[in-house]
Amino acid sequence: MNKTIIKGIGHYIPDNVLTNQDLESIMDTDDGWIRERTGIIERHVVTKFKETTATMGVEAARKAIRSAGIEPDDIDFIIFATLSPDYYFPGCGVLAQRMLGISEGECGALDIRNQCSGFIYGMSVADQFIKTGMYRNILLIGSEAHSLGMDYSTRGRDVSVIFGDGAGAVILQPTENETSGILSTHLHSDGRYAEKLAFISPGCHGGYYADDAEKYGFSEDPLESVFLTQAMLDDHLTFPQMDGQFVFKHAVTKFPEVIQEALKKAGKKASDLKILIPHQANLRISQFVQKRMGLTDDQVYNNIQKYGNTTAASIPIALSEAYHEGRIDHGDLVCLAAFGSGFTWGSVLLNW
Ligand code: UT7
Repeated sequence: MNKTIIKGIGHYIPDNVLTNQDLESIMDTDDGWIRERTGIIERHVVTKFKETTATMGVEAARKAIRSAGIEPDDIDFIIFATLSPDYYFPGCGVLAQRMLGISEGECGALDIRNQCSGFIYGMSVADQFIKTGMYRNILLIGSEAHSLGMDYSTRGRDVSVIFGDGAGAVILQPTENETSGILSTHLHSDGRYAEKLAFISPGCHGGYYADDAEKYGFSEDPLESVFLTQAMLDDHLTFPQMDGQFVFKHAVTKFPEVIQEALKKAGKKASDLKILIPHQANLRISQFVQKRMGLTDDQVYNNIQKYGNTTAASIPIALSEAYHEGRIDHGDLVCLAAFGSGFTWGSVLLNW
């Protein structure tokens, strides 16, 4: 059976920089708090009316397509991972197909909603399609325009200071080469904690989960839309929410577990890793994982300082940067790992 390789890779970062100092001027926060708790110094944000999750994903995709030496029409399947899609539906996959000018009906498009683990889930899905011979050129994109849906007032500071915008993309192809390709993928979830990091409203929950349906302004009229109510807007419920400490505690346990799971399956040790690309959630989480696994500074790639947490885009951006900086060579053992909302987490182990 064929293995799956990353044949092309690229990323796109919007020009606009939002520093911690910029945030200090719009909410009650401070550079010291953000740096100490997260490692973040600045993040990039889209230019309104010019950039979206889909457009950034397509910019990254164009670079990945070029570096793979293929044409957009060669792509037979698109997987688009994001939690900040342009539209509630349809997904960004079809928008990317249209923007890339891929001929009508010539490829399938799948959107993945696994937040921080979206890119890992996407790699795993693509790997199955390629191994079985169903597709030969899969475009996998991770892209986020978080800044278009954040609460940049003091009320939302525990979430909004952490996130940034950007995109990364890869082209996945089959190979018969024994020395490179995906060795294994590992996917996990635990829905008990779905609301610990979530964007709940607007949505089609219709009061099902609410202890206090009045809070959402739901009416008893069965035909009145409760997708978005005035009460949701008035109470600032239309933003992401996170129990940061709870998420943190789970992250530092699940990251090492899922990395070890992949290494064990391949009969490898942490010291065999050329590089670990963890989802960039918090520099403290990455440092904790590094210490727990006995990895050197060279073995762990971090760029959250420049971009903040870009959710589904963080791994492909970091992987693309690491590759373009010459940190990854043919045959190197590379591990990608993520943990986030859902909770969902996972890893991919591959030889470059
Ligand atoms: O990518 C998806 C997965 N996400 C994660 O893995 C995130 C995991 N969690 C974290 O990274 C951390 O929990 C945070 C960075 C989100 C928060 O750091 P923390 O050390 O857990 O802080 P905290 O939530 O316990 O808040 C400590 C204090 C609070 O004030 P009091 O109650 O001690 O007076 C907050 O109100 O810091 C306050 N605070 C802030 N202060 C300045 C919260 N946000 C801010 C802020 N600026 N932006």
